[in-house]
Order: sequence, then structure tokens, then C-alpha cells
Amino acid sequence: MVELPGDKSISHRYAILAALAKGRSEIENYSPAADCGSTLECLERLGAEVKRRAGNGRSQVAVTGVGLEGWRRPRRTLDAGNSGTTLRLLAGLLAGQTFDSTITGDASLRRRPMRRVIDPLALMGARMEAREGNFAPLKIQGTALRPIHYVLPVASAQVKSAVLLAGLLAEGETSVEEPVRTRDHTELALAEFGATVRRAGYSVSVVGRTPLVARRLSVPGDLSSAVFFLAAALILPESQLVIHQVGLNPTRAAVLDVLSGWGAPLKVGSVRSEAGELVGDVSVRHAPLSGGILSGGQIAQLIDELPMLAALGPYTEQGVEIRDASELRVKESDRIAVLAENLRRMGARVEERPDGLRVEGRAAGAPHGADIDPHGDHRMAMAFAVAALGAQGPTRIRGAECAAVSYPEFFAVLDRLVKR
Ligand code: S3P
Repeated sequence: MVELPGDKSISHRYAILAALAKGRSEIENYSPAADCGSTLECLERLGAEVKRRAGNGRSQVAVTGVGLEGWRRPRRTLDAGNSGTTLRLLAGLLAGQTFDSTITGDASLRRRPMRRVIDPLALMGARMEAREGNFAPLKIQGTALRPIHYVLPVASAQVKSAVLLAGLLAEGETSVEEPVRTRDHTELALAEFGATVRRAGYSVSVVGRTPLVARRLSVPGDLSSAVFFLAAALILPESQLVIHQVGLNPTRAAVLDVLSGWGAPLKVGSVRSEAGELVGDVSVRHAPLSGGILSGGQIAQLIDELPMLAALGPYTEQGVEIRDASELRVKESDRIAVLAENLRRMGARVEERPDGLRVEGRAAGAPHGADIDPHGDHRMAMAFAVAALGAQGPTRIRGAECAAVSYPEFFAVLDRLVKR
């Protein structure tokens, strides 16, 4: 049995909205991920008061917000660390301030594309300068924003959220239309904090300048982290595992349908809704997996789980093929290249393609232990640690501590689960 730390995506959003509300919000089971710590540090620099506490093994955070117009000029450059969500979501809010600011991140984040947020924010009147027009640091000149209706050219919850959050500061209704549904935590959280949010089909809108109200909220366990343990149980014979109180938001839970479709005996129970988010228990036991093809509209809803699903490839009957996923190339690492490189190191047969990869299944031979280079990418380190469980011989993962970007306790928990 395992309980997961709070969902990373939801934690960012609760903290940011709490900092925009007036008064003290309490966030229970706030994610201990380094990324979510980066968000808290930025919010402190912008004038919110943040108190971190660890109670009964779950981390709690109290954020005292200063209202929609209460943020103050940060004395130093804001640092989003490795976190794309921090940088892109805050960019929208910094654009609408009465002061100027600069936000940047670590070497990996400074290589990731920012034009996708700069373009829609510019339509709202934002003034920002990026290195080569596309990369952090972003120098942001605060200004009054106007509402827009924006049709997203890429399926990205971060871009959708940057526009909706900027919309909070604009007079009138800002709307975003997406090509396929992406995670909707921002919409749900906005409504919880008292904003007027409307949804119709693939469009969502927010009415600006309505004060937000401080809240007491609890963050569901992180399903994207849970997937590593589900995969471990599926690889190791005789395993059984129950994961408690994990987030089951339908825009995030596609991975459970994929694994079930591949033959995993998954059971979901005790489902309830908390602050608009579905939460429940998931159990699994070891079973052979068929593998299959992942493509099209399902990719956006599996985006953070694709590394683990691809790394399961050599343990499946038909192998795993991922298509239409060129977004993976602009994540914390080029995840298509890093998956191909390291799966090959383990002896898997892999074909790398511009928008995905094909990993051959069991018939191509059993994987062996290897020296793995996750290129500093937390999800690569965790996916290969799990893949290594079924391999012949030891595996060494260079710089495995990068797992702390989303899950600092990952190796300790994996060790405890595997020894049982
Ligand atoms: C996230 C959205 C996704 C995801 C990332 C977290 C979010 O990124 O990969 O880990 O919290 O909104 P994109 O919006 O770039 O697809």
C-alpha cells in the first residue's frame, strides 16, 4: 500500500491562486516536488506570505495572499528552476502587473520554447522580451491587459493556463479554445477560488477582475508519480499494490485506460470528488501486458506518462509505439531521444522517429542492466529505475537525484515496495 505526495500540477495552481486571493489559504498534501517549491519561492518574492509545515508525513502549506492587485515588484529575478509550469503560468500574471519583472529558470528550462505563451499574451497587450524571441529569461514590462479569445495552436495546459490567469487581470471575459482536451486543473481551481469560469465544449473562459477568496484545500495524490509504481508491479511477478487517494481527474487518468487495455488488472474504488477533482484508490497486480500503439488525441492526456509507457515496451507482447508526440522533444529533456538512447543501452530494439518511437516487445530479447543517462530529467530517471527492475544485471542511473524535481522520496518508496 502506498500514498502519494500531492499532485504537482494541482499544487502549483492552488499556491498561485492562493497568492492572488486575499487572506490565508491552507493547502494540505502540497507537493514536495522541487518544482512546486520554485513556485512558492516566486510567490514569496511577489509579496505572498508562505508557511511550510510537515504534519503526519504530509506537507502542508499556508499561503497568505495579497489580492489580485497586491503583488509587489520582486527585488531579484524570479527563478522557476526546472519548472515549465511555474514559468509559463507566472508569465501570464506578471504581464498584467503595474511593475516590471524578469523570470528565468535552470539550463533545461532556458532551452524550452516560450513563444507559445508570449504570442497569446502579446495579443492581450503584454510586453515581454525573450532571448532569441523564444527562450527564458523573459523580461516582462507590466501593463494593462485586454481580454482575448484564443485558439490554441498546440495542445498545452500550460499555455491555456497562462492565458486564463492573465485573463484574471483583464477587464472582461478571456477565453481559450483547445484542439484536444488537456488537463483542466486551472479551470477547476479558478472556480474553487471564486472566479467565474464557463466551459463549453473545448472552450473555457474566465471573467477578469473578480476578487478571489482564500480557501482550505487538500491536494490529491499525484497519478503521474503513481504510474511508476503501477508499472513496477506489472513488471515484477507476484506483485500486488494498492495506491490510496490518488487524483483521477479524467483529463489525467487516460494512462489507467491504456494499461487496462493492455491487460493490466487495475481496479479503481472509493472514488469521490474533492474541490472538483476526482480522487480514489487504485489497485493492481502483476499480469502480462500486450503493449500497443499510442497516438492522436490521447497523447495530450498521456504526455507525462509516455516515458514510463515507452520503457515498458520490452516487457510487452507487441511492443509499444508512440506517434504524434513531438511535444516530448521539448520537455525537461528531448524525451524521444533520451528514451531511445537508454532503451538501446538496455538492449531493446528501438526505432526513433520525429514524432515518437517504436520499442520492440519481448520477442526482441530480454533487457539487461545498463549505465543510464537520464539527462537530468526526473521522469527519465524514474522510468528507467522501474524498467531496470525486470532487467538482467545491475543498472546505474547517473544523477538519479533529479527525481526530486517531482518526487523527492521516489527511490526510498520504490525500495520499500520492492523489498516486501
Ligand atoms: C503541465 C502541463 C503539461 C505537462 C507538465 C505539467 C501543467 O505540459 O507536461 O508536466 O501542469 O499544466 P504542456 O502544457 O507543455 O503540455
